[in-house]
Amino acid sequence: MLLWMIQCAAHDNAANHATARKKGQFAAIVLANTQICREHFLLTLRLREFPASEPGQFVQVLCPPPDVAVQSAEQAVAGLQEVFWEPGTRPPRFHDPDFLGSQPYLRRPFSIAGRRDDPANAVSDIDLIYRVIGKATIRMSHLVTGDSISILGPLGNAFPVPEATHTALLVGGGVGIPPMIYLADKFQRAGIKSIAFVGAQKADLIPLHITGDVGTQASSNVREFAAFNTQTVVATDDGSLGNKGFVTQALEKFCESSAVSQGVIFCCGPTPMMRATALVAARLKLPCYVSLEQPMACGMGTCQSCIIKYRSGSAEDWVYKLTCKDGPVFNSADILW
Ligand SMILES: Cc1cc2nc3c(=O)[nH]c(=O)nc-3n(C[C@H](O)[C@H](O)[C@H](O)COP(=O)(O)OP(=O)(O)OC[C@H]3O[C@@H](n4cnc5c(N)ncnc54)[C@H](O)[C@@H]3O)c2cc1C
Ligand code: FES
Repeated sequence: MLLWMIQCAAHDNAANHATARKKGQFAAIVLANTQICREHFLLTLRLREFPASEPGQFVQVLCPPPDVAVQSAEQAVAGLQEVFWEPGTRPPRFHDPDFLGSQPYLRRPFSIAGRRDDPANAVSDIDLIYRVIGKATIRMSHLVTGDSISILGPLGNAFPVPEATHTALLVGGGVGIPPMIYLADKFQRAGIKSIAFVGAQKADLIPLHITGDVGTQASSNVREFAAFNTQTVVATDDGSLGNKGFVTQALEKFCESSAVSQGVIFCCGPTPMMRATALVAARLKLPCYVSLEQPMACGMGTCQSCIIKYRSGSAEDWVYKLTCKDGPVFNSADILW
């Protein structure tokens, strides 16, 4: 009995050690924080000895302390008017009128959008693309080169890798586009052909660099995906760029007209968009993996704030799963939408 207990403790220690090596808390230095479109920024961070990560994984960002946060409501609104507001357009979405009065105490989750390693110096640069929507992201938008912030990660599971003969269909909506860029990088290295489908409400909310006419077909004029030899189909709800309508409609149209027989769908975006993608996948009989973006508090399986209903056994049976720990990537057919 004693031996068994010692063995269990040793196993737990080894498991904890392995987990500890796989994720941790890191001080990250801001290399750049640039605005890409009306409400999105690209934040590039440098970390030392950051553990290996995979597309689909995310980090928890402890948002900037007060010295880099805006000082007063008047200054914030003036700054945001300068950056985001055009006369006659909708103001930024401040759901909490007192947002400046309190700190964002909880970390906020963001998908890893890209990563470059310098193994000789044990240094990694990671990209986060974030939309400015509230307390924490407003503060993040004020970060400048040289600032330091705390990162917890890498967290969560990863997208699976399809067979080399399959075509990866990368479907991203809004803030779900960033993990698709990292995935395109990985698939290019693995020799897997990818096509990206990106959607947003309107052209100026697409967090990507458009380098030419994108038309309604797959084009190489989206810089972030073209860098990984991936063509991109663009859709906007209002038709201001690319296909008019939802990205799921563009995906379905493309698959029907291109005879993608061995496609595998990888998707991230708002829940209604992922649910619609799951339906398209079911209609086309294609496997589909979604990365859920449930609101999260701890990001590590402790607080139970990110539960979803997950199929278990028969069609009616289900269990709760934690998006942060069991996911965020799930087979779309296993989720009770
Ligand atoms: C695994 C994961 C990966 C993510 N990756 C990215 C990413 O790459 N880029 C990005 O911009 N965002 C991403 N998000 C969403 C991001 O975490 C939130 O936008 C961020 O926490 C908002 O913080 P805030 O303090 O600025 O806004 P808050 O003040 O906390 O919220 C502002 C408003 O947005 C709503 N909101 C906040 N989070 C979510 C959410 N997850 N889903 C729906 N509504 C929400 C709130 O209810 C509130 O109405 C991700 C979320 C998850 C769970
Ligand atoms: S975010 Fe705390 S358990 Fe998932």
